[in-house]
Amino acid sequence: MFDLDKLVDKSRLKFVQRFGGEPLCTTAAPGRINIIGEHTDYNGGLAMPAAIDRWILVSLRPRSDKRIVVESLDFQSELTFELGGHFEPFQNWQRYITGVVAIFNSLFPLSYGLEASIGGNIPIGSGLSSSGALEVALMNAFRSIYKVDLKDLELIKLCSRVDHEFLNIKSGLLDQFASQFSRRGYFLVIDFCSLNYRSFKADMQDWIWVVVDSGIHRELAGSKYMERVEECKQGLRCLRQSGLSINHFRDITVSHLKNFPPIPSEPWRKRLRHVVSENQRVRDAEAYLSKGDFESLGKILVQSHESLRREYEVSCKELDFLVNSALAHPGCAGGRMMGGGFGGCTLNLIRKKAATDFADKVSQDYQQQFDLNAQVYHFNLVDGVKVYAQNPVKS
Ligand code: GLA
Repeated sequence: MFDLDKLVDKSRLKFVQRFGGEPLCTTAAPGRINIIGEHTDYNGGLAMPAAIDRWILVSLRPRSDKRIVVESLDFQSELTFELGGHFEPFQNWQRYITGVVAIFNSLFPLSYGLEASIGGNIPIGSGLSSSGALEVALMNAFRSIYKVDLKDLELIKLCSRVDHEFLNIKSGLLDQFASQFSRRGYFLVIDFCSLNYRSFKADMQDWIWVVVDSGIHRELAGSKYMERVEECKQGLRCLRQSGLSINHFRDITVSHLKNFPPIPSEPWRKRLRHVVSENQRVRDAEAYLSKGDFESLGKILVQSHESLRREYEVSCKELDFLVNSALAHPGCAGGRMMGGGFGGCTLNLIRKKAATDFADKVSQDYQQQFDLNAQVYHFNLVDGVKVYAQNPVKS
């Protein structure tokens, strides 16, 4: 388990080294795993994520002029711009910063600029939601130093607007939800139709979650992601226009999809079949977890992967290989691709005592097949974002 206090001290120290004074506030927002419920968030469905012991940390304080100065420790780079002036971000991390500043400023006009130092230990681009955590860390820091009245749910919706308006990805709220609302040792079950959620205790007995990073980070993922978002919307439109009493995605059932007259080359039926069945898998997974039936839970994970591969078509050969290799291991109850897809990680349910052997075997197989290193992680489940205001800096 990473020691968050040490990471906070480090973040504050880096701030002092760069800006020559203490930050007013430090925030630490965690990354996430998603047990089940993939590509359901922007379709008003269900998901079950949990925050992990990897964080993005932001230390910051206001300035007396109108400048925004942000240092990224991970990218070893810095950006500077004037509030209200023109700045053209050319890297994604800069888009997140300019997005959070612009959206916050449009609601709570800032009279002064600020300076910030950003770093962390969430692997970037692996599907563990380093960018969602960056938005959540920054937005919470802004809320804290400017003391504005902004509810948590509204705050994460603003974070999501950054993805929509500044990255041009119409993603859902999964990542920000997990980073804001998670509880240590618990899973979240989120309903993205009502935006209600509850936590339930992750009693894993003698099983653990093992995450395997394929090392594949495809740029293509953004455009394919948007294609899926559009296809699902198109499906909803078609079903509505046919006179069925369907208002939301959640009104769609398997029989609607089965009985709707075929339209040549319509991908949306498959996509929505995935969404409807994945929602049911979230309910089933919760039931199995509560009963401690890990073998059945494992089967649900495998069904989820198959559905993401065949119906939603967001897997890739490396992820399929990693899942198959996992399933061949006797200590594995099930596994699936996790996150947006086209690369990133797999999530596997493994008997604790088999974890080391599993990690060795899967990485060897992967190395042999693709000549690539697979990183294997075991995370602890932690609380959502933490805000540390005005503590003295330890050096
Ligand atoms: C990415 C997005 C999330 C979610 C997942 C797929 O992580 O940021 O909003 O759609 O993909 O479940």
